Amino acid sequence: MKTQELISTANALFAGDKGLLAMDESTSTCNKRFAEAGIPQTIEYRRAYRELIVTTPKLGECLSGAILYDETIYQSTKDGVLFIDKLKEAGIIPGIKTDEGTINLAGFPGEKITAGLDGLDDRLAKYYQLGARFAKWRAVITISDTIPTRGAIEANMHTLARYAAMCQQAGIVPIVEPEVLMDGSHTLEKCFEVTRNVQHELFHQLFNQNVDLEALVLKPNMVIPGTDATKHASIDEVANATVTCLLETVPAAVPGIAFLSGGQSPADAAAHLNAMHKLYKGKLPWGLTFSYARAIQQPVMDLWRGKDENVEKAQKMLHFRASLDNAARRGEYTPAMEA
Ligand code: 13P
Repeated sequence: MKTQELISTANALFAGDKGLLAMDESTSTCNKRFAEAGIPQTIEYRRAYRELIVTTPKLGECLSGAILYDETIYQSTKDGVLFIDKLKEAGIIPGIKTDEGTINLAGFPGEKITAGLDGLDDRLAKYYQLGARFAKWRAVITISDTIPTRGAIEANMHTLARYAAMCQQAGIVPIVEPEVLMDGSHTLEKCFEVTRNVQHELFHQLFNQNVDLEALVLKPNMVIPGTDATKHASIDEVANATVTCLLETVPAAVPGIAFLSGGQSPADAAAHLNAMHKLYKGKLPWGLTFSYARAIQQPVMDLWRGKDENVEKAQKMLHFRASLDNAARRGEYTPAMEA
């Protein structure tokens, strides 16, 4: 019974042209983004910002799911409605970030491992009771001349697979997020090689841990040159490299893939998703959508700036950005829509 429910939830996240909003920044990440936008870094401003998001009119037209954070899942609008209930009212499936951030990986200088497996089963049971139906766990892989190492890739993908197995046991769809960072000067080809290795190892570990591939969502990076790379890639080059990599590594049993934006501009993130749909229409075995944080929220935060009088225009921007990503999923996005 649980399995069928999990499969239905996973598929519902890929309904129509919808996608996901990652609004699950940890307190420290949210405070960092607030500081950059000149917004005070208090619990009340974080609550007010998340209220702005969940009360945006017609957001359910654009989003199938939204990922909350532990602090946020217990918070309410100023009228006393839990955010999680606001999302459900709008037809948006609530999800929850379950990892506890990254720490140094012992024995592997410069590499990280994600914390949070201890006690995860209890937290998942609590989140399920609160109404969360999917979860997220982010593993981070960095590229330099000497890393990533085999050991770090294996440890991180093993951890992701253990998390995914625990989620499914708790009746929650796991989003598995192996993020190969854009930081650095590496080429598109190097990103392709590392992403391919990482995803290959991920599915090996998911298989070993008896994870049901029909009841999970992959949240990968796009295959893209590093932020400081001297050679840039065109929109179609990124789209082609990304889909080629996914076709080689992701089994057809997986219902769908929802990309992170990873520091791309909102316009680039939309254009890349759009190109994948244009170039590969009818040729993909899984759904392909967005699960962006920065590429949707950055312009929203910049407009809001912590002021009540800016809420309405910030909400319009949120709806607008998400609807451009919907257009990208249909292969109908054009840069002219940005105006
Ligand atoms: P970005 O879209 O900003 O990369 O965030 C997505 C995410 O959920 C990171 O864990």
